Amino acid sequence: ERKVQALVDGKIPFYEPYMEELVADARENLKFTTSYAEAIPGAHVVFIAVGTPPGKNGSPDLRYLEAAARGIGEHIGDQFLVVVNKSTVPIGSGNWVGALVREAYEKKNGKKANGAFAVASNPEFLREGSAILDSLYPDRVVIGADQQRTSEVLYSLYRPILDQTFKAPSYMPRPEGLGAVPLISADLASAELIKYAANAFLALKISYINEIGQLAEKVGADIGQVAKGIGLDARIGTRFLQAGIGWGGSCFGKDTAALVATASEYGLDAQIVKAAREVNAHQRDRVVEKLLGELKILKGRTIGLLGLAFKPHTDDLREAPALDIARQLLDRGARVKVHDPVAMERFQKENAGLDVTCVATAEEVAADADAVVLVTEWPEYRELHWDKIKATMHNPVILDGRNLLNRTALTRAGFKVLGLAG
Ligand code: UGA
Repeated sequence: ERKVQALVDGKIPFYEPYMEELVADARENLKFTTSYAEAIPGAHVVFIAVGTPPGKNGSPDLRYLEAAARGIGEHIGDQFLVVVNKSTVPIGSGNWVGALVREAYEKKNGKKANGAFAVASNPEFLREGSAILDSLYPDRVVIGADQQRTSEVLYSLYRPILDQTFKAPSYMPRPEGLGAVPLISADLASAELIKYAANAFLALKISYINEIGQLAEKVGADIGQVAKGIGLDARIGTRFLQAGIGWGGSCFGKDTAALVATASEYGLDAQIVKAAREVNAHQRDRVVEKLLGELKILKGRTIGLLGLAFKPHTDDLREAPALDIARQLLDRGARVKVHDPVAMERFQKENAGLDVTCVATAEEVAADADAVVLVTEWPEYRELHWDKIKATMHNPVILDGRNLLNRTALTRAGFKVLGLAG
């Protein structure tokens, strides 16, 4: 209710570039409500976009999805309704949601739900921080449905995006050379699997480059050059080969865990995905190991963390590497100072349990610190006056967890620069 009220007041309850502008532009066509009775009857399409946070054994917690499905079922009107799973849901959920909607409908109306609705899967591929760009100009649209009639409804809904016939907003111009967007029209189970398989593959790519990064460090190779050198092979591609602390966020961790859990329900061992998860978890431990290697003792030391959000251009802290690293440092008796350009307010609200000091500027993070760790690759951290910062530090040690900074310049300025890859 708090979130919906914020939206009614024109405020966005999280940080996402240009979201406020988009919502303001669409004002006339948008209505926010917490009431199913207001939202569902008369709708042609209802998107379920509730959270599916990780539950026990890696399987997602589906109680919000269940509540939404029942709420929809109870309020379907006379109009044929397409219920779309936009949330990332385990394979088979389309059928399950269908059963819940049907049950709720039949209980409420005392008649069979035949033909009143159908369920479709329409997985989301947007990235936080570039959500609008990814939504308006996607690489592809995937629609999963078991009946042609259902896919047709969604096809006509997506048509302006598929054909790119909508007027591009001034703050998000259409990328040059963008043609028609490919549509994958699949069955429900395939669409559901596409989502997990895509996220797991991206996660594998990151863990792969981090594994190669460890080797690069040992042999004295430059991981940036290695990533470029392999990425320019069109079969591999340059994106998602940025080595560093690894992935965080609400998607890769949860979705790789869910894929492993689903595979195991079917008696399969998803070894490659499991290995990617292990490499990712180890990257965070390596930050602490590196600091320990350099400073020998962490007890009583002051460590500054630059960046809290799981990646730049968002204030999302879910599974953020910074939280894990801060916790490990605190456990070893260090004092921790933190800064983030946008996520600090949310951090203060959500992480009261973590005994760290929030400071207003990146410079303050470094003042009197024994080491600074760059955790999130906010572009402004690259522009800091590192030579001035060095003079204020107790110990000029910097661990560039994202390979963002100019290592040569920092070394020349007298810093001891640590990294996680060569
Ligand atoms: C991810 C996917 O990229 C989206 O396609 C998908 O729709 C979304 O999950 C979802 O399932 O909802 P997101 O988690 O918002 O999007 O963010 P990403 O840009 O994928 O970054 C995830 C993490 O990987 C971040 O912590 C980022 O710092 C890290 N990363 C990314 C790397 O360490 N190296 C890279 O080369 C790229």
